Amino acid sequence: MHPPSSHTGPNALAAAKGQASAATGPGIPKVGPQTSSTAPAAAHKAPRSWLQLNTPMADWQGRRVWLVGASTGIGLACAQALRAAGAQVIVSARNAQGVQDWAAQDSGVQWRALDVGDHAAVQATARALLAEGPLDMVIYAAGYYKAQRATALDLEELLQHDKVNYQGALQIIHAVLPGMLARQSGHISLLSSVAGWRGLPNGLAYGPTKAALTHLAETLYMDLQDQGIGVSVVNPGFVATPLTAQNQFTMPALISPEQAASAMLEGWARGQFDIHFPKRFTLWLKLLRLLPYRLYFPLVRKFTGL
Ligand SMILES: NC(=O)c1ccc[n+]([C@@H]2O[C@H](COP(=O)([O-])OP(=O)(O)OC[C@H]3O[C@@H](n4cnc5c(N)ncnc54)[C@H](OP(=O)(O)O)[C@@H]3O)[C@@H](O)[C@H]2O)c1
Repeated sequence: MHPPSSHTGPNALAAAKGQASAATGPGIPKVGPQTSSTAPAAAHKAPRSWLQLNTPMADWQGRRVWLVGASTGIGLACAQALRAAGAQVIVSARNAQGVQDWAAQDSGVQWRALDVGDHAAVQATARALLAEGPLDMVIYAAGYYKAQRATALDLEELLQHDKVNYQGALQIIHAVLPGMLARQSGHISLLSSVAGWRGLPNGLAYGPTKAALTHLAETLYMDLQDQGIGVSVVNPGFVATPLTAQNQFTMPALISPEQAASAMLEGWARGQFDIHFPKRFTLWLKLLRLLPYRLYFPLVRKFTGL
């Protein structure tokens, strides 16, 4: 892999793109050299420009990354891209979906079955992982989505969205943050969604949980930036995964999980806080956020027909 000095500025981006595209889709290839050491904590405190809200992370060699909610979709593609870049990845979710086979082939991959709704299991899994060594990054990608409108309100479904999309993240943060604070190092990245930027039809259950996650990331960032701990929030547009396979409408600017993973690695390599993509879609939504409601509501109705 590249010498450390090449992993800042444009080289970092080139490196990140190269690494992400090295990973192939589901089918879990064996990738990269086998490394077992964990990068020293100090490496994360490299100086950064004022544009970079986080310390850039492009050198994944020897870094230990726990991805929660990564047996499929964006989380899995991200685990593959990080592994291709030399990171040691721990993948958690309820169902292995082949990750166990991958772990059996590659000592740099661990499978840890976990339901984020089981608080004791979250604590126990985090304790077991931290007993093996520090975690350099924790990515919360677990997500649940069912379209819902207030005209057919389903409280149980509303609460299930909150349990997986928001409370699960709180459980994971609660389990890993003390270790990061003790080391004054680490990074927490939360997979939120542009659906959390402003209310959207069918998003009654999903949207508010993502708005909460983005708000949580903002507050975490402010509280932790002086503790050597990075925080980022990932806001994808539409990505072709099992979660969006239920959508009956044409999804604008739809991208693949691999493209999403590539954008995430690029965002971390740039030291970004708000990693949103694809820009040809998300920048319009950023604009929509600025509109007064008397313009926003009719425009959304016009665009969605809902
Ligand atoms: N796809 C998109 O267009 C899009 C857009 C914006 C944001 N996102 C967000 O990106 C993240 C990943 O979504 P995705 O599209 O990649 O969907 P996905 O393929 O369905 O992935 C969801 C992951 O979460 C895991 N999960 C669900 N419930 C869980 C639980 N209780 N405990 C532990 N793991 C759980 C799933 O595994 P198990 O079911 O086996 O547990 C799976 O690995 C989600 O937070 C989603 O909201 C997706």
